[in-house]
Parts: sequence; structure tokens; C-alpha cells
Amino acid sequence: MTPRTPAGRARAAGRPRTGRARTGRARGAARPPLALTVRHGIAFTADPCASLLRLHAEAGPVAAVGPRRKPLVHLFGPDANAFVFANSGLFRWREAFDLLVPVNGETALIVSDGADHRRRRRLVQPAFHHRRVGAYVERMAANTDAALRTWQPGRTLDAYAELRSVIRRSTVEVLFGDRLAADAEVIGRRLQVALAAIDRNFVLQMMLRQIPNPYMRRVAAARAQVARRVDEEVARRLREDTAPEGAAHDDVLAMLMAARDEDGAGLTRQELQDQVISLISAGYDTTSAAMAWAVYVLATHPEVEERARREVAEVVGDRLPEAGDLPALTFLDGVVNETLRLFPPAVLSARVPVEDFEYGGHRIPAGAMVLYSPYVTHRMPEVWPLAGRFRPERWDPSSDLHRPATPATYLPFGGGPHRCIGSTLATVEIKTMLACLLRRTRLRLVSRAVTPTSVTAMRPRGGLPVRIVG
Ligand code: HEM
Repeated sequence: MTPRTPAGRARAAGRPRTGRARTGRARGAARPPLALTVRHGIAFTADPCASLLRLHAEAGPVAAVGPRRKPLVHLFGPDANAFVFANSGLFRWREAFDLLVPVNGETALIVSDGADHRRRRRLVQPAFHHRRVGAYVERMAANTDAALRTWQPGRTLDAYAELRSVIRRSTVEVLFGDRLAADAEVIGRRLQVALAAIDRNFVLQMMLRQIPNPYMRRVAAARAQVARRVDEEVARRLREDTAPEGAAHDDVLAMLMAARDEDGAGLTRQELQDQVISLISAGYDTTSAAMAWAVYVLATHPEVEERARREVAEVVGDRLPEAGDLPALTFLDGVVNETLRLFPPAVLSARVPVEDFEYGGHRIPAGAMVLYSPYVTHRMPEVWPLAGRFRPERWDPSSDLHRPATPATYLPFGGGPHRCIGSTLATVEIKTMLACLLRRTRLRLVSRAVTPTSVTAMRPRGGLPVRIVG
């Protein structure tokens, strides 16, 4: 017989209790200690990543901070990650990612729940299939190489900003075709206004959302301009596709426009608009942050850089990298994996429970903001030997440092039903761009003192100034 209460169902499923816990049964994660909240709040503002490591060291696997009515409950470590991913029915994403709505739209995947999410995900997923992503390598390599040709020895430039612009162009191009890509800079500038809103201090964002104000009006106007541009492209394609000569497009937008449910229904105009905008914004901010860290770790580990350079020279030679080269670049795989381990752009991800539940002896109330952290998990010495060191060889099964990564121990792309849809696209893009960089350019950091900023797309604060030396 199926238990009738959530707690009973949870016990039957072998997961921690959900439902209202009786007083005294569990410690009160719902009641964050004021001193810890203040200490963490100050530390988080100064250095979010370091503050999370400290919070975990101080409070253990469950740490509640923030207001008592709606606490932020951090669940740290592989067991917590496994719990969060296995119990997706306990959580909602709409409330957890509410702050993304002004940019991504009401029907974006990350703010969709239940049957709506399953339907939209089923329609969008095929566009990100491995085989299709391979077809994008040529464009990514060509765009990167075009930018690198302007990196003349002696020049000093911000590698983060330059590579971000290449990634923005490649993302828009492979997802939505040449015509939107020609406008990538303009689209990027407009989306930037909106993305900057997400990147702000959490409390400030909450306040900005409460009352109409010029800032949120500017965000809405920027988003509306991008949405109009997307609508124009869709309308033009619909006209072209019905013209006698037709105009076949082979990109994600074409797949989204053609996607149909079993009952023949496709994505609505609003859904199409939201998917396009949210894919662009989810795609380039995170990937360019990861790319900047990859450049940083190579520049600070010359022996790793040399080994990666030799591998690229042997596999790729003088030409641009192609999709067929990527499987042979195994050391470079380690570099990418290790970069995403030490510097996962999504430092935290969020869920909001729909009912009270217990975890690790703590009662966590419905409506709390539950946060799990790839960053903290990836730096736990009990999970990763020499956790704080950049050691790409650990990804080689014959290495002493090797530990098999599981969805609970290695999660730069999150996990569960909302796991990042663009993970293959992102890793292929970073690997392709690194191969281009290593075959053409030598660079040095202007300063080794680089600190991270932001927990949604963690990147070097103030960019990554480098000097081109060869
Ligand atoms: C290094 C680059 C990237 C990182 C670190 C990253 C990370 C993440 C994370 C952590 C999540 C949330 C998963 C969860 O909480 O369970 C996510 C979701 C998502 N990502 Fe990415 N992402 C990256 C690149 C991309 C790219 C290139 C795209 C698409 C072009 C993309 C599209 C999405 C979408 C649409 C979702 C929501 C999926 C859903 O709700 O079903 N991401 N990503």
C-alpha cells in the first residue's frame, strides 16, 4: 500500500522524513543563529567563495543563515547533493530562480516545474544532442582563431572580455544562425543590462523586484528589444520556409521551431522567445567565466600548459581543431574537468521545498531557500585528494590521485531533472577554444593576484589582464 502522508512516502522511499516535524525531534535549521548570519553575511559580501568554505567548516553539512521566516539553508557535501537530486519532487524551481524571470522569461526551463518542465525539456533537449554539438566545433574554432589573430605579441588585453565576446558570437551563431549572430554584440549589450540585474547582491535584487523603478524598467526594455529581434527572425524563417525555394536552417532555433509533442503541439511564441533568450544568457555568461579560469590555471601552471600544448601540436598540428580531434585530446579533457572542479561558475544552485522536511537531523521548512554547492563539494579534501591543487592528471584513471567522479561528487552542471542542458556544448566549446589558444598564442598574466566574484557565473573580479608574449 502507498503511504498517504509525505513523511510516510519519504520513509517508504528510504529518504529523510518530510512533513511537519514535531517540536524537539529535529534541530532547528529553520532558526538561523543571528551571530552566524551576520558573520557569514559580511564574509559573503567580501569573498563569497571563501565565505562558503568557512561556513561549511564552521557549521558542518547543514547551515542555515538569513531571515528566520525564510532562511537560506546550505546543504553541503556529496550526501546532501545526492539527497537534493534524488528528491526533485520535494522542490520547486520557479520560486528558487524567480530572480531570473525578468531576463529569461516565465517559460524558461530553469523556472518551469512539473509537467510544464518535462514537456519543454523534451522539446528542447534534442537540439543539444552530442552529435549536433560536434557539428558546431568548426564555427567555434573559426571564431576563436579570428580573434586570436589580432592578439599580437606585446599587446596587453583582458582575456576574459575578449574570449567572452567570441563565446557570445559562437553561442548565438550555433544556436540561432548567422543573422542573429551578426547582431550578437548588440544582443549581448542589451542582455548585459538584464544579466547585470541577476548578478547584483541578492538582497538588493529582492528590493528592486518589489516596486516599479527605473532600473527594472530598463531591464524590461532591454529584454523586450531582444525578444522583438527573436520574433523577427522566427517570422522571417516561417516566411522563408514556406517560400517555393525554402531556406533550410540547421541550428537550435530550427529544431525548436520544428519540435512537436506526441499530440502535435509545438512551443508557443512565448515559449520560443523565452527559450532563445534564456539559452543565450545561460550559455555565454557561465561558459566565458569557465574559459577565463582555464586561461588563468594554464598561465599559472607552466608545466601543465606545456604538456597540453604538446598534445594539441601532436593531435591537431597546424590546422584548426575539428570535432574528430577532440576525443584524442585526453589531457586537455583533464584540464577542462579540473578547471570546472576548482572554479565551477555556478558556485551555488537553489531549490525551494514545497513541504517541510528533515535532513541530517534538521527540520527545513517549506518555502526556505535550499542551496547546494558544487564549489564547496569540489574542494572537500575527504572527497578529492589535494583538493585545492590544480592537478589535471587526476582525471586519468591510472593516476594515484584519480577518484571516480559521481553525480554527487562532481557537479559543475548541477544534477537531477534540471541538470544543465548545455553541458556538452560548454565543454566542447572550452576544449575547442583552448586547443586554438594553445596552438597559436603564448600569454602571461599581468598579475597573479586574481580573486573570484559572483556565485551565479563566478569569474575573475576585474577581468583577466594578460600580456601576449608569443
Ligand atoms: C561552463 C558552462 C556552464 C555551467 C557551469 C552551467 C551550469 C548550470 C547549472 C549549475 C545549472 C542548474 C542545474 C541545477 O541546479 O540542477 C544549469 C542549468 C541550465 N543550463 Fe547551464 N551551464 C553552463 C553552460 C550552459 C550552456 C552553454 C547552455 C545553453 C546554451 C546552458 C543552458 C542551461 C539551461 C537551459 C539550464 C536549465 C535546465 C533546466 O532547467 O532544465 N548552460 N547550468
